[in-house]
Amino acid sequence: MCGIIGIVGRTAVAPRLVESLRRLEYRGYDSAGVAAIVDGKLERRRAVGKLRALDEHLAAEPLGGTVGIGHVRWATHGAPTEANAHPHASGRVMAVHNGIIENYAELKAELIAKGRTFESQTDTEVAVQLIDQYLSEGQAPLAAFQSALARFQGAYALAVLIEGEDRLVLGARRGSPLVVGYGDGEMFIGSDALAVGPFTNRVAYLDEGDVVAIDDTSARILDAAGHDAIRPVRVIPASAALVEKGNYRHFMEKEIHEQPDSCQHTLAAYVDPVALKASPPADVDFKALNRIQIVACGTASYAGLIGKYLIERIAGLPVDVEVSSEFRYREAALSPGTLAVAVSQSGETADTLAALRFCKAQGLVTAAIVNAHQSTMAREADVLWPTHAGPEIGVASTKAFTAQVSVMAALAVAAAAQRGRIDAAQEAHLVHVLLEAPRLISESLQVEDTIREIAHELGRARDVLYLGRGAMYPLALEGALKLKEISYIHAEGYAAGELKHGPIALIEEDTPVIVIAPSDSLFEKTASNMAEVIARGARVIMITDAEGQRHAPPGARVVTAPACDPLIAPLVFAGAIQLLAYYTAVQKGADVDQPRNLAKSVTVE
Ligand code: G6P
Repeated sequence: MCGIIGIVGRTAVAPRLVESLRRLEYRGYDSAGVAAIVDGKLERRRAVGKLRALDEHLAAEPLGGTVGIGHVRWATHGAPTEANAHPHASGRVMAVHNGIIENYAELKAELIAKGRTFESQTDTEVAVQLIDQYLSEGQAPLAAFQSALARFQGAYALAVLIEGEDRLVLGARRGSPLVVGYGDGEMFIGSDALAVGPFTNRVAYLDEGDVVAIDDTSARILDAAGHDAIRPVRVIPASAALVEKGNYRHFMEKEIHEQPDSCQHTLAAYVDPVALKASPPADVDFKALNRIQIVACGTASYAGLIGKYLIERIAGLPVDVEVSSEFRYREAALSPGTLAVAVSQSGETADTLAALRFCKAQGLVTAAIVNAHQSTMAREADVLWPTHAGPEIGVASTKAFTAQVSVMAALAVAAAAQRGRIDAAQEAHLVHVLLEAPRLISESLQVEDTIREIAHELGRARDVLYLGRGAMYPLALEGALKLKEISYIHAEGYAAGELKHGPIALIEEDTPVIVIAPSDSLFEKTASNMAEVIARGARVIMITDAEGQRHAPPGARVVTAPACDPLIAPLVFAGAIQLLAYYTAVQKGADVDQPRNLAKSVTVE
């Protein structure tokens, strides 16, 4: 939710800020802005809309300087207008902010009482004015910044320029991520390693409450108590620094096609292909557990739900799944022997982080299944179960989702083996099944021609229903979410058996109903549900395997996926629903990688 960058550099800063913001656009794209110190004075350029608009503004009105800050915004307080775009300015201060300052109204009233006037509706302008207020009262830059931070309630990552301090950028984090990049005679701060990736691969991750001051060659870091602190500098892998679309039209398309690889990389960390055993990278005693509580948001919560189906069926271990935004506030009753598992691509989603912290505070052992391995969740959970999907840029999650599902499937096998629910031969068989997943995912993606044709029809629909049973039910939810997110068509996912309890009333002549139905033990039941909707005029699109295709009802369009074991069916059937959403959005001319109103990383409640 909003991306920030700060640079103390040796070359023209504006193009570098924009280059960095391009990598941060996944965090927000309602507006963008940059500021720099030019001949001792603060100057800024801002534009509403995607980064292109800022680029054009900068072409018309170039911005000089070698020290600057930049921002891409996902609007929270105040509409996406130029006045509300960052950087915000007041007196000697310009700043960019990611997060929400919750007590801004109270601080604003206090500043207005001191005679200050405001030009935006944002909480960020309040922060900027407060820093300037302390400067005008005679405090030194770092002290003024710290005084202001001490007054803020809520979450923030900030980058600040101060007039009169030509080679300085201040930063701070609480609740929103911030990294420090170490260059050669230049220094950077940014929302993530990707942001500083074009300039350096040496990065330190700040801790909660840290404040940082960067100049040409160094970063002074102060911890939450105000003491000098050292945060380890790591060399980040090239994959985090290099994110390009290659020959694909969109990141989402590229990421869909990366799934055989990302699934393989992830599974490689969770199974031993020689011993044919499940071997998760961090040990948890599944025998000692009574229950697993999964917390997650959006697509990650559907991966969690698939995990519930797999882990309960194979390992006999009860699993609860709840969206983090509900879980964190409802004073959930947690029993001892519960493992809390946060599932998150970014590892920074505010609600999931809060839910994880709640579980930890209740004394539970916590685990995080995360794709960003240096994220806050990765660092705070007792157990880190990484996914190895690589950077995911498309706002609609695809490869991170299947990587999460891969981990769930491998954990189900590990838990089953440890709990004595399967013997060594059964474990070897299931590991073998897991190892087949990448190849079968790759085969499942060879359906683009059929999908393009179907997408043409879907693009004209007003409502689309997705149905599935068993682990295909969460996949139906995910399919509907994907379609909504990127093509803006209303879609609902339902457990196929629930159809007659309400959603069947939506069916009119030609309403598309997408049925995910591998030829498993539930196939016949789902086939009956298909007959029910066809009898009412629906156009059924059936995603099934060759055996299921033989039983397809007349008139149904069929997308064929490879036959597979139920353990990996959610992985093998995911590609078709992702491609359906993708091609429908492309055909409608929608902005696939940056759908309206969404952001990839949601670090606000
Ligand atoms: C946002 C993204 C979704 C994602 C969700 C959870 O809504 O648009 O794609 O599933 O956040 O994000 P996380 O990083 O925690 O997986």
